[in-house]
Amino acid sequence: MDGAVAIVLAAGLGERLGRDRPKAFVELAGRPILAHAVGAAMGSPGITSVVVAAPAGLEDLARAIVGPFGSYPVVAGGATRRASVRAALEAVPMDVGVVVCHDAARPFATPALFGRVLEALHGVDGVVPVVDVRDTVKRVEDGMVVVTEPREGLMLAQTPQAFLAPALRDAHERAERDDIEVTDDAAALERAGFRVRAITGEPGNFKITTAEDLARAEAIALEHARG
Ligand code: CTP
Ligand code: MG
Repeated sequence: MDGAVAIVLAAGLGERLGRDRPKAFVELAGRPILAHAVGAAMGSPGITSVVVAAPAGLEDLARAIVGPFGSYPVVAGGATRRASVRAALEAVPMDVGVVVCHDAARPFATPALFGRVLEALHGVDGVVPVVDVRDTVKRVEDGMVVVTEPREGLMLAQTPQAFLAPALRDAHERAERDDIEVTDDAAALERAGFRVRAITGEPGNFKITTAEDLARAEAIALEHARG
């Protein structure tokens, strides 16, 4: 099947955000965070379909949000991000060659970034967008600095990340078998020995984790909405 499928991960509870509902359902400039993320994915011509992982029990709510974009599958996610990816992968037809994984918690990823990770997926098994580390990085234990880590070569990973579907399935099966909780999908491929290319991410594509992040995101989203 031509065209890539985007898995949008929205099954987290948003505990650090601490709102009355899971993070993907919290509104940003009047629209749920999930709608922003799905809109960005479907805004990219290379993405032909979406599979959403929602918190178990909230699939219908997620379906109502996704509905305006098309009738795409919504599945119940799992207790961990890894389990949510596995659940979403089950809903991706086996003849789909390329899968893009994206965290709903990054509502500012642009359709162009989806396009660029797809374009860079040649001669490698996966593509991850990264941005450089600007602050000095220190290792701290019990309130004391142990060492200042050299910043050179260190990058911060973002989503969307593009993968050859067989490599993504294989890497996640291995991580599950080895009981390793990877924090992104590229990490699952790296540890399985697949080749992952890093491309330039987007400075504005930050992940909403805390209330401060949400406040910053709200200001930016309102600015966007004003055009
Ligand atoms: N995610 C998921 N399934 C899980 C855990 C996380 O689909 N079991 C998704 C989240 O919905 C989010 C992304 O993975 O879009 C990144 O996770 P994170 O930022 O940690 O979100 P939450 O797990 O919701 O937040 P918290 O850890 O604060 O509870
Ligand atoms: Mg989490």
